[in-house]
Amino acid sequence: MPDNRQRIRGGGVSMPDKVKFTIDGQECLADQGVTIYEAAKANGVYIPVLCHYEGLKAVGSCRICSVMVNGRWMASCTQPLSEGMVIENDAPLVNEYRQAIIEMLLAEGNHFCPTCEKSGNCELQALAYRYGIMVPRFPYQFPRRKIEAFPGFLLEHNRCIQCQRCVRAIQTEDGRKIFAMKDRSKDIRINIDRKLAAKLSEDQIQKAMDICPVGAILKKGVGFIRPIGQRKYDRQPIGSEIEGEK
Ligand code: FES
Repeated sequence: MPDNRQRIRGGGVSMPDKVKFTIDGQECLADQGVTIYEAAKANGVYIPVLCHYEGLKAVGSCRICSVMVNGRWMASCTQPLSEGMVIENDAPLVNEYRQAIIEMLLAEGNHFCPTCEKSGNCELQALAYRYGIMVPRFPYQFPRRKIEAFPGFLLEHNRCIQCQRCVRAIQTEDGRKIFAMKDRSKDIRINIDRKLAAKLSEDQIQKAMDICPVGAILKKGVGFIRPIGQRKYDRQPIGSEIEGEK
């Protein structure tokens, strides 16, 4: 990898402000210290994310944001950008990999889009449209999962993709987490502290619902306020807001 450090007066070494890299053959510049995902976004290049959410610590768990960097797979939401990286993002092999992840997520849970309150605002559904998924190649698992009711909201385990956005985003005023992960492997699921959940404000419940990429967290009493067909991804495909900034 080329060394682009510059000698400065007094013999020290300074790092330049910008990093040069290539994504899908396009030469780009980005700030030092950003991730590949952030660098791509700043250059109007869309990389899909599910577990990642702006403002939350990236955990790199869903791998939908994977790109090929100099021939190796990397999760773009956690991988820092470095000088001279050659990144493949909108490439056949990368898109095929992302399709497989989306199909696995759809087959692993129970996602009945036509009856889901999140339809049209659901990132998983929008990605399925973007990547042209018709029917998953994997057998549906039809797991038997619960729907849990809490004061002010429902937790629909059938739709949860374990992205852990809610775990990272929602806390009590004194910093205690309300959502947590429980069990492992195929039994892994979101667990909620009932006592703390009862203290969630209306705004926190709305935030939890909005931050959830699917329809797993649903605020009670507000179903279908905006009709299906007029929602965020009904109007514009996912990613177009980033690509529109080119
Ligand atoms: Fe990067 Fe999930 S968005 S791993």
